[in-house]
Amino acid sequence: MRYSLSRDIGLTGKIDFIRTVVCVKALSDATVLNGLSLKNRFIRAAVGEKTTDGTVDGHILGVYRELSRGGAGTLITGFTLIDEAERLYPILSLYDDSFIDGHKELTSLVHESGANIISQLVYAGSWVIGNRRGDVLLAPSAIKHLKSNAVPREASAAEIKAIPRKFAEAALRAKKAGHDGVELHAAHWFFLCQFLTPYYNRRTDQYGGSVENRARMLIETYEAVREAVGRDFPVWVKINVNDGFDMGVSLEDCLYVGRELSRRGIDAIEVSGNWMDRPENSGPFFKDEAQALAAVTGASIILTGGNRDFQKMTEILNSTDIAYFGLARPLMKEPDLINRFFERANGKSADS
Ligand SMILES: Cc1cc2nc3c(=O)[nH]c(=O)nc-3n(C[C@H](O)[C@H](O)[C@H](O)COP(=O)(O)O)c2cc1C
Repeated sequence: MRYSLSRDIGLTGKIDFIRTVVCVKALSDATVLNGLSLKNRFIRAAVGEKTTDGTVDGHILGVYRELSRGGAGTLITGFTLIDEAERLYPILSLYDDSFIDGHKELTSLVHESGANIISQLVYAGSWVIGNRRGDVLLAPSAIKHLKSNAVPREASAAEIKAIPRKFAEAALRAKKAGHDGVELHAAHWFFLCQFLTPYYNRRTDQYGGSVENRARMLIETYEAVREAVGRDFPVWVKINVNDGFDMGVSLEDCLYVGRELSRRGIDAIEVSGNWMDRPENSGPFFKDEAQALAAVTGASIILTGGNRDFQKMTEILNSTDIAYFGLARPLMKEPDLINRFFERANGKSADS
């Protein structure tokens, strides 16, 4: 069964009408972001895939072949490990130069279809999947992870200092592999995200307490990555704007982070949050927060989570400064959804 349904595709006539009469911006717009050309405003939001030993294997190539032919202008990879200490997590990896060749192959395959590839970099910490008993799980504080139930150890000052360098080295490998940019995963209660969230960050040193302190880990990581890859290489970040629990991140915190990263030259901010707690088709989940961020930062804002309705996306595009739309589950179910949307919008037949 097709995911996108006639309900969404069926709105195309209305979208065309809106575009003709009032809309200046369209989902099909080609844009340029820090020198990177994006052929439309659709971004495949990251979806972590299992791989063999962290390599770009046949399964990964198959998934990205289909996605890159499916119409989305830009594909964000599934989260990619930056530290060998987390290697038991069976996902893409860039903690070592030996992974670069595989990523080069991935880049070529995606570029063949005119799509971009952005590598999403992660330090997982206590958000672990599978059996990692015995591993050192680091977090800002020794607070049990609400999703994984893992109890981490508080990262020492020296361990904190080592993380930005690992992100920077992995970003440089992504650049060497020809990827079009990197995205720092600072959402969904992975390590970087946990520093921003008061529930997980109980530190009393310069990395905890005030928002200035809680944001320091992410800002230092961004700065290390920027220094490694240079000003002209796109660097994006994905953050939570709503944790959905007590002592979660506040909108004011997010606006501060957005302003500070923007001031330092971040190119795009992907807005996410507690998407797992929301009914799948009740989105977009974080539009108000994304709109508020778009108003205070110079970075391009990507709204991700619950985007299911093309008319709504067009309206948001034209009534806010939100510039791009991330989709994950719709493209898992229908990798060719964007092509089908454009075919229908252009009056060509597409099955439904
Ligand atoms: C199976 C699966 C794997 C995911 N893996 C990642 C990931 O690696 N990195 C990430 O930032 N988000 C990941 N997400 C979250 C998505 O990027 C996205 O934020 C979320 O699914 C909400 O968007 P949607 O409503 O379009 O699915 C994953 C989601 C799913 C369903």
